[in-house]
Amino acid sequence: MSERLTSQPLWLALTVQGAAIATYHLRDLFAADPDRFRHFSLRHDRLLLDFSKQRLNGETLNLLRKFAESRDWQGWIERMRRGEAINHTEGRAVEHTLLRAGDRAPADIRDVLARMERFCDDIHSGRWRGHGGERITDIVNIGIGGSDLGPRMAVRALSAFQQPDLRVHFVANLDGADLAGTLAGLNPRTTLFIVASKTFTTQETMTNARTARDWLLTAFGDPAAIAAHFAAASTNLDATAAFGIAPANVFPFRDSIGGRFSLWSAIGLPIALAIGFGNFRQLLAGARDMDEHFFTAPATDNLPLTLALLTLWNTCFLGTRSHGIYPYSHSLALLPDHLQQLEMESNGKRIDRDGMAVGHATNPVLWGAAGTNGQHSFFQLLHQGSEAVACDFIALARADFPLAGHHNGLLANCLAQSSALAFGLTADEVRAAGVTEALVPYRSFPGNQASTTLLLPELTPFTLGQLIALYEHKVFSLGVLWHLNAFDQWGVELGKQMASRLAPVLRGEAETTGLDASTRGLVEHLRANGA
Ligand code: F6P
Repeated sequence: MSERLTSQPLWLALTVQGAAIATYHLRDLFAADPDRFRHFSLRHDRLLLDFSKQRLNGETLNLLRKFAESRDWQGWIERMRRGEAINHTEGRAVEHTLLRAGDRAPADIRDVLARMERFCDDIHSGRWRGHGGERITDIVNIGIGGSDLGPRMAVRALSAFQQPDLRVHFVANLDGADLAGTLAGLNPRTTLFIVASKTFTTQETMTNARTARDWLLTAFGDPAAIAAHFAAASTNLDATAAFGIAPANVFPFRDSIGGRFSLWSAIGLPIALAIGFGNFRQLLAGARDMDEHFFTAPATDNLPLTLALLTLWNTCFLGTRSHGIYPYSHSLALLPDHLQQLEMESNGKRIDRDGMAVGHATNPVLWGAAGTNGQHSFFQLLHQGSEAVACDFIALARADFPLAGHHNGLLANCLAQSSALAFGLTADEVRAAGVTEALVPYRSFPGNQASTTLLLPELTPFTLGQLIALYEHKVFSLGVLWHLNAFDQWGVELGKQMASRLAPVLRGEAETTGLDASTRGLVEHLRANGA
């Protein structure tokens, strides 16, 4: 199918269009259309998406939208909503939008939410007591990937809504430094662990969970303590029971919920504990609002589809293979980490839905950091390096921590960067500013670096829900446009299998024969150095 994708008339027309647009600078595009902001910006609710600084014109946009129609994007939405197994390589439906469907959610999902609510109330009110009778003051979420990144990002993003007298920590890495560093500051009598793992087999999570259990048992000397200090979010109820977690403390979810889409499920328990259950429901409501927009808005108004089309355009027709995410919000500092998994694990693929190698680029490398910090590290490359990078700037109209004089400067920097990246500074402008001729090449900025700016009115559970769901549906749309299954992740398996074979080799319990020369050399060096 994808071989044919690249030979379809609309793909070919977009290729021609890409070559034509490449001859224009963003300065030209703005000069040609004084109303460019109005023509290339969209609003939904109180969100504003300005993509006028993208390298495209009205004809490009029409072609891109026609291409989306030709890929039957609305038909794929219907397939997802009907519960078809669109994750065909795992034989699973894709049901994360059901998790935030409110009153329309299936009974099992509403039941788990109700249980999560009672659990949160018990912890917050102090009704829940540790094994020694003390109140819980610290929650440690043990999980990795989708069982860590989304909740970790959301808890940080909503720190203005943090419940009093409760701290929420996250441990993910297999490196003992992560868990040891966290436990060092904690009292086992007032700590509760959530083991968050869809499969409950992930090496990092299970290793950390077992060490945490040992730490607790060393303190109490009584296995009964586990019931008061361990909870789990998982689909694997046999494994949670085998680990010793009381069934009443296990919060299940469906296996149709992919890890990177799971923060709305029981995996969101640390979020609900951090911000309170009413606020967690607001997070779900914000996502539901974006779902309804995505499902019903036409292509001309549809924010997630537009984001997907922009990435398709930049990646496949302008040759831009790098995508930067720059939230000008310290609270959103972990958004790039979450989106990295969401986008790269979903569409970082080269085999299409028909088992054929695609004949085009797929997901760009996605990375980023909060502004203004990024300006003082990697922005030099964006301004004067040799790489085209598609940039998403994200900012809040109103600050979540309104210290006098801060937010105005933050916003000014955000707007200044996207403008400087788009328009640059010509040699003549540099000369006109009185710069010595020898320095003119160094002080000039080529510009033409494309960006989109997303403005949120403020950062609340509701707008964060909208924001995350916006990118989730972008990812869904890109999968449709590229004819990929965005919901499996077989690419992570090979390394996991090899690691399990290498662990005994490193311990000296298995031979190095059969290893490639590099790995053998590294193993021998590590063994000789005390590994
Ligand atoms: O290795 C990748 C992955 O499977 C992710 O897709 C997932 O979010 C993560 O591992 C954690 O998996 P689990 O929740 O089953 O521990």
